Amino acid sequence: MDSNFTIQNLTSKALVQQFGSPLYVYDEEIIKRQCQTITAALQNSFDQGAKVLYACKANSNPNILKIMRLNGIHGIDAVSPNEIEVALQAGFLNNQITYTANYMTKEEINYAIQKGVILNVGEIDTLKKLIEYKAEVIIRLNLDIGIGHHNHVNTGGNDSKFGINLMWKEQLIEIQKQGVKIIGLHQHMGSKIMKKDHDFYLLGIEKLFQAATQELDLPYLKYIDIGGGFGVKYQEYEEISDLNILFSEIKKLYDKYFINVKPMLFIEPGRYLIAESGYLLCTVQAINTNKQKTFVGTDSGMHHLIRPALYQSYHAIINSEEKQIEPKLVTVCGNICESGDLLGIDRNLKVEVNDVLVVQNGGAYGFSMSSNYNLRERPAEILIRDGQPYIIRKRETLDYLLANIVIL
Ligand code: LLP
Repeated sequence: MDSNFTIQNLTSKALVQQFGSPLYVYDEEIIKRQCQTITAALQNSFDQGAKVLYACKANSNPNILKIMRLNGIHGIDAVSPNEIEVALQAGFLNNQITYTANYMTKEEINYAIQKGVILNVGEIDTLKKLIEYKAEVIIRLNLDIGIGHHNHVNTGGNDSKFGINLMWKEQLIEIQKQGVKIIGLHQHMGSKIMKKDHDFYLLGIEKLFQAATQELDLPYLKYIDIGGGFGVKYQEYEEISDLNILFSEIKKLYDKYFINVKPMLFIEPGRYLIAESGYLLCTVQAINTNKQKTFVGTDSGMHHLIRPALYQSYHAIINSEEKQIEPKLVTVCGNICESGDLLGIDRNLKVEVNDVLVVQNGGAYGFSMSSNYNLRERPAEILIRDGQPYIIRKRETLDYLLANIVIL
């Protein structure tokens, strides 16, 4: 459906005229709404016994993290030292940050320990390196249950590089005897969990609670971290989870297993908090028709939003303006020299050269997964706050792209 598309009453065309194309635009009201919905739903079931940590890999612009902090998000799940730095810059405290990197280097371990963030460790070898520090850690388990919209984002089971399998439980207890204090258990099963996945997801949660209470002896347990993964709607037919229902089911399991010790429950949503607030605006440069297909070529592409190319993910694309022309079946593509550089395949669009297209649900894993492939700049990022647009990241320049080059 084409329409005159606005973000807090600003038309996409005006935003592109003012700030250039392509452009990432975030609507602060939608971020606030998502923060509010998830924190309220969690509190309904867990009261003060649970916390929301934003998995900032989804979008690590510090302004976004700050909005999260000011809207009830309790902490950050970081996966690199730089994400920790950004979380601190956004005003989160060290002890509000979990560090869930995988295959950490010695330098990263030193850094994380010195910063006093909460380590979340998913390999026995990494745990062994922590013995000398007598570190307190959360253990990331792989309990053989993985869910996700694509194999690449399914993080449980035998094909996943993440987490410690319970077949190593003796080693875990041995490492604990040697001075590493296991203060929490963690599991992240995968990304984009929808209503249809609930039963399987809850099975995974139950396995985690069983591991904490029946399989492992954990005298120092204070946290139980069930990861992120809560989905949003990318297509009309998709059904998202009712978080009130989902969290109340989790609470029932929690009450069944945690009778004496009551660890703080963490959730780590990324996509849920930021996906729907973000739009990638791009401009049609040329329309190219071959014997079978029509390609609508834009000034953006897989270097700015890799999800369609990497996971065949669907992002709705609309024309920013109402058009009085016939719709056509077209494939929207980018300007990168790869045949897989497609943003939307076989879409019914009313579209002409110079139109501004709006790629929806671009807030999560959009900019944060972007690249400079073909030596192209990344777009600027704009935040719409109280009806006003603010630049929160400048468009890149050639100088920026070449800043680290050493010419021989
Ligand atoms: N916690 C851990 C340990 C994670 O690995 C992730 C995501 C999250 C939390 C947040 O998951 P979320 O709530 O956003 O689903 N690039 C992919 C998603 C990869 C997710 C990686 N880990 C995509 O664009 O779909």
